[in-house]
Amino acid sequence: MYVVKSPLSDADLKTVSDALQGALVDLVDLSLVAKQIHWNVVGARFRSVHLQLDEVVDTARTHSDTVAERASTLGVSPDGRAGTVARSSGIGEVAGGWVKDADAVGTLVEALGAVITRMRERVEATGEADPVSQDIFIGITADLEKHHWMFQAENG
Ligand SMILES: [Fe+2]
Repeated sequence: MYVVKSPLSDADLKTVSDALQGALVDLVDLSLVAKQIHWNVVGARFRSVHLQLDEVVDTARTHSDTVAERASTLGVSPDGRAGTVARSSGIGEVAGGWVKDADAVGTLVEALGAVITRMRERVEATGEADPVSQDIFIGITADLEKHHWMFQAENG
């Protein structure tokens, strides 16, 4: 269904919509993984890790909304359904059950690293096609890399 007219050419729109959709599923999954670990972390560092994980959830939720609405703005329907996220997220499956604090931190280092790698690819891919979307990806990457730094520092 055609509703919103995009300012981009078809080719540029395809590049940008793939990037936005990919970012959406990665960020939704990151918010779910961070909540899963937030609920299941145990150990001496419980409180700091537990609270820190909700900061990741806030970042991921805020940015997932931004990229989804950027897609809508460009006339592309965003797909944040659970099945779509499960099929296409760049984050590997996280084990269920309680997780020790150091392992929780390690899980976040890995998950954030996977999302950051893909987000940087989106920065590269969208510069010509749509610098406005690229700017969004750059801002997201900066926030994710800050979280990544902090979790790495905790297991240093
Ligand atoms: Fe909570």
